[in-house]
Amino acid sequence: MEIKKVGVLGCGLMGSGIAQVAATAGFDVTVLEVDQKYLDQGFAGMEKSLAKFGEKGLIQETPQAVRARLKGTTKMQDLADCDIIIEAVIENVDEKKKLYAALDGIVKQDAIFASNTSSISITELLTSTQRPERFIGLHFFNPVPLMKLVEVVRTIATAGDVYDTGYEFGKKLGKVPVRTSDKTGFIVNRLLVPYLLDAIRAFEEGVGSIDDIDNAMKLGCGYPMGPFTLLDFVGLDTTYYITHVMYDEFKERRFASPPLLKRLVMAGWYGRKSGKGFYDYSDPNHPKPNKL
Ligand code: 3HC
Repeated sequence: MEIKKVGVLGCGLMGSGIAQVAATAGFDVTVLEVDQKYLDQGFAGMEKSLAKFGEKGLIQETPQAVRARLKGTTKMQDLADCDIIIEAVIENVDEKKKLYAALDGIVKQDAIFASNTSSISITELLTSTQRPERFIGLHFFNPVPLMKLVEVVRTIATAGDVYDTGYEFGKKLGKVPVRTSDKTGFIVNRLLVPYLLDAIRAFEEGVGSIDDIDNAMKLGCGYPMGPFTLLDFVGLDTTYYITHVMYDEFKERRFASPPLLKRLVMAGWYGRKSGKGFYDYSDPNHPKPNKL
């Protein structure tokens, strides 16, 4: 099947990033949100990002031409003729299932449903629809417009041609797709999450300070960000949520939240987005490690 029209559920950081790359790749995109104010915020972010790409000559068309393929809506009915729906709403199983169930009766029957979830089982999500064989995971990485990877997740129920269409669609978005199966965390988080949690444990055990551990991994391994900078960037609340899902699945200590992560989240220190996490972002260009 050919994908022409893309529906994106959620216009937050991930949803707006996905919508932007799909429009940049030439697809007509409609983004669904619950409230116009979230659409306005997400579209402002996309316009800023597209302007940057335009200035640097990194897109074939003008930012305005890409923007013209992007629509926002608060009505599910506007997604009825989409060929693929990519969900990027809050990481809450019940919310996601409710949304899929409602859209299942509205969106045309041969459309593919995909989820950008980082840790929730795709198999669990597909049970909320009557199209289990047309359901995949498409897991993007933050910031979506810059990160080249998309994990394409197959479940035991996914039809072969649907999976192949999802994989090719990933390429058409300008990403490098990798094939993976519906095991919690897929490839990246399976390996990344224990590493990030180990960095916190190393800090708790006095192996090094926040900035020394960050510098060690950045300069010693050539990573673009050290583990604490990355944790604050991903969001400590998001990471904490992922640890629960992964620990619940595997019952292994390497996926369990260290006490410090839990305390930071309880205190509302979610990282960059809340202004405080492992670092303090009062001056966003010069974050300072917090005394923890
Ligand atoms: N759109 C357009 N341009 C953008 C942008 C965006 N969304 N975000 C940043 N840029 C631009 C910046 O403005 C900057 O432009 P300039 O050079 O003209 O000033 C340029 O990109 C480079 O950005 P920075 O100077 O801020 O910093 P870096 O060179 O370090 O690049 C980065 C930023 C690409 C985010 C890099 O630090 C990186 O790769 N970090 C690791 C990110 C990562 O690991 N992400 C995955 C997280 S895990 C995940 O998402 C999975 C989930 O399930 C948890």
